[in-house]
Amino acid sequence: MSEKKIEARSQGSFPMDDPTQGLLHDHQFIRQLLQRYLSTQDQKVKQYAGPRICEALLQHTRLEEAVFYPAVEKLDVAMTTRCLDDHHAVDELIEQMQHLLPGDLAYDELVTHLNEAIQVHMELEEQQLFPLVRKSSLNLQDLALRMQSFESSMVSAQAKSVGQRSARGDQLH
Ligand SMILES: [Fe+2]
Repeated sequence: MSEKKIEARSQGSFPMDDPTQGLLHDHQFIRQLLQRYLSTQDQKVKQYAGPRICEALLQHTRLEEAVFYPAVEKLDVAMTTRCLDDHHAVDELIEQMQHLLPGDLAYDELVTHLNEAIQVHMELEEQQLFPLVRKSSLNLQDLALRMQSFESSMVSAQAKSVGQRSARGDQLH
């Protein structure tokens, strides 16, 4: 099997003429992390890949829920509702994972469930929702800009909260 390593998309970058390409890149990155976790017995690889799966998925689903779905839902309300329901199922699995350690049997089982749920969800988006968006009359450039700006502010808010946490940590020493 040829292995082409996919890097995380650089934050805030979307092809201006088609923001679904940025979401597709996220999907490929997430698929690769899931594959890495599920195809190894190496605990170190699991400890690395497990939290990264959760982080990449949460960032991706927050962006879709805050900007992408609201912008495209009028094209097919039933489909975006189904996508949101899928996200809620994913959120619940991630919530459970966050109480366990990567590599534990129960964590492995949750990753297997997550993989099944997410593959079906990503296929729905890639085969039906994204093509619908691409051929719609929506202003894709405006959508790409709004997605970029949401993602940039999400990343800087995270950096700020990490900074505040470490500043508080410093005060304790
Ligand atoms: Fe999604």
